[in-house]
Amino acid sequence: MLTIQSLSKRYNTGDKALTQVNIQIPKGQVVALIGPSGAGKSTLIRCVNRLVEPTEGQVFLGDTQITKLNTRQLRSARRRMGMIFQDYALIDRLSVMENVLSGYLGYTGFWRSFLRRYPQDVIVEAFRLLERVGLESFIDKRADELSGGQRQRVGIARALLQNPQILLVDEPTASLDPKTSRQIMRLIRELCAERQLSAIINIHDVHLAQQFADRIIGLRAGEVVFDGQPDALDTEMLTLIYGEEDWNPQIDADEEENAKHKAPDQMYMDSKAALV
Ligand SMILES: Nc1ncnc2c1ncn2[C@@H]1O[C@H](COP(=O)(O)OP(=O)(O)O)[C@@H](O)[C@H]1O
Ligand SMILES: [Mg+2]
Repeated sequence: MLTIQSLSKRYNTGDKALTQVNIQIPKGQVVALIGPSGAGKSTLIRCVNRLVEPTEGQVFLGDTQITKLNTRQLRSARRRMGMIFQDYALIDRLSVMENVLSGYLGYTGFWRSFLRRYPQDVIVEAFRLLERVGLESFIDKRADELSGGQRQRVGIARALLQNPQILLVDEPTASLDPKTSRQIMRLIRELCAERQLSAIINIHDVHLAQQFADRIIGLRAGEVVFDGQPDALDTEMLTLIYGEEDWNPQIDADEEENAKHKAPDQMYMDSKAALV
């Protein structure tokens, strides 16, 4: 169980990124965090593992008060929180296997990790995970030889090698085409169910969020303005979250249809622009 209490973040620049956020996530629940660019989604998940230091408030993972830990304690607590990134954060010149193994030390250890030797049981588990995410025939390939979807699968396997209790996922599909995006979201969803893992997934695609999350939290200007079931997210709520943007579902569907005929990059830019 993750508990976020009265969490606020003000950056040195004076930007107030989060204001009094309260969220409880039970074991096994997959939460999609939606909201326009700049709403505070990345700040929120980074406050959970203190890659960003909260200005106020508490975060608990189970009984552990994350916001009280010293550096050494925090390093070990972070191993219970797997992170998955939009740009995958792989080391290009290392193999798929080596990238996954680097998860063994937690994401604080990316760079230190490739000097290490790994215990046999960790290597066996890495094989098992690579099989589970469908990359068993890519184990020895260099990370930079993979497609975006395959790279994200490596990122997922690496996060799971830590055997985390929660996944913190920042825009996992933002660099992927629509079909691959669905596959990746489905994979994350299935893995959470198999392992009773909770997840917070920042995602700009409302349809994907509705399709794959148990619960949706809408952030606007650093405040939670929606917290509920995916099917409770109607046009009115979307307008509340995304501002004056006219969230007509039909317009949205038409845009998706048109988008199929565009290059993926352009579509990504357009969908980002639509949410600003
Ligand atoms: N490192 C930073 N320094 C100063 N301001 C920041 C920093 N990171 C984010 N912000 C500001 O905090 C707000 C929330 O940003 P962010 O969490 O990245 O939102 P999102 O992920 O929803 O796009 C924005 O106003 C952004 O400009
Ligand atoms: Mg972000």
